[in-house]
Amino acid sequence: MNQHTNPDREARNILISNDRGGYTIPTEGLYPYQWNWDSAIAALGFAQFDIDRAWIEIETLFTGQWTDGMVPHILFHQQDDGYFPGPDVWGCDGPIPSSGIIQPPLAATMARKIWEQDTDAGEARIRELFPQMLAWHQWIMKWRLDDHGAVCTTHPWEAGRDNAPDWDKAMARIDASDVGEYQRRDTSHVNSEDRPTKFDYDRYIKLVQIGRQAGWDQQALLTQNPFRVADPTMTFTTLRAARDLLAISEQLGLDAEGLGADIADLEVGASSLWNEDLGVFDSRDARTKEWSGSISNASYLCWYAGIESEKMLDRLKAVLASVPFPVPSYDTSMPNFDARRYWRGPTWAFMNMMIGFGLAEMGHEQRAEELRVKTKELISTYGFAEYFDPISGSPAGGNAFTWTAAVWLHWAGRD
Ligand code: GLC
Repeated sequence: MNQHTNPDREARNILISNDRGGYTIPTEGLYPYQWNWDSAIAALGFAQFDIDRAWIEIETLFTGQWTDGMVPHILFHQQDDGYFPGPDVWGCDGPIPSSGIIQPPLAATMARKIWEQDTDAGEARIRELFPQMLAWHQWIMKWRLDDHGAVCTTHPWEAGRDNAPDWDKAMARIDASDVGEYQRRDTSHVNSEDRPTKFDYDRYIKLVQIGRQAGWDQQALLTQNPFRVADPTMTFTTLRAARDLLAISEQLGLDAEGLGADIADLEVGASSLWNEDLGVFDSRDARTKEWSGSISNASYLCWYAGIESEKMLDRLKAVLASVPFPVPSYDTSMPNFDARRYWRGPTWAFMNMMIGFGLAEMGHEQRAEELRVKTKELISTYGFAEYFDPISGSPAGGNAFTWTAAVWLHWAGRD
């Protein structure tokens, strides 16, 4: 079954062939632009063989930063008709054509890792990036917190877990009857059974239309956007990024006013996501205050954010022992679990890596190692797919995928 005889070389070749000059596309065809959190992961992969190129990836991402600090989820560097919705649908006017939402902020965390790998090569680069990364953090603190200090996603694409069951209730409340005609492109590249449904897609597009009508004015969208869900992905990654920014500022003697207070607020926000009845870090609708009732792979990012939880650790041990290719994006015992449909069950290698980072840093090296070895087996057997069936391991979605290759080079494939 092991067709991948030289995965190191294969992984490097994937990064090189997805390189479009300064930025890396996630995969040919399905995702032809620069995606925000994919780029931060890609940079970690490049750092294993070309550290200058790693810095360029993050620098290019910040060339798309808006004057208010926002860093878009997609940068449309070059028009490509194979993707919908493109720049004409989003109607944004940042320095580079872009979407109008963000993605979980990984850049500061990955930049710190790349800097620590080679502090001489990285010092000037990280100094230059620091104010931009700080401005993005401040933008998130200004526009995305709920009443508890947890960080909200304002579009399912913003949290990067597009069709996660976390959003089902909030999505059901959106009226998309007037969304109009549009043509999806994703299902012409990959199997439609592996992709979000039309019900979801109508609402993704409706939310883009609402944002555009508001001119992406965040103050207006606070009331006009019907979708606002506090979520573990946004909250844990923002808290982690704030800790990394503070550490960078202390080591380089840079001004980071307010970061300490932000971290304290985000810690309160993160603990507010603990759903006691379910015994898990859950998502919560900021409009209705209702829990999602979701056990997702983002729930396990608590350690990545520097938050300890015995209960999550017990749960993780059970998942490692019972699911052949963990960590499933949705708990296999939940009624909505779907082994192939995107964020409703499949395993994502880059999420495993982030969970693994957190585990190792918080003293759970053995669990981190178990997860790494299982991820290694998954990729070396089934290849560099976008995501995988957690029960059978079979690959799904796009292939020759950038972040899966980067995860191999930086983490899974390193013994
Ligand atoms: C999908 C994923 C998202 C990712 C993007 C590009 O939309 O859900 O997390 O950033 O593809 O890979």
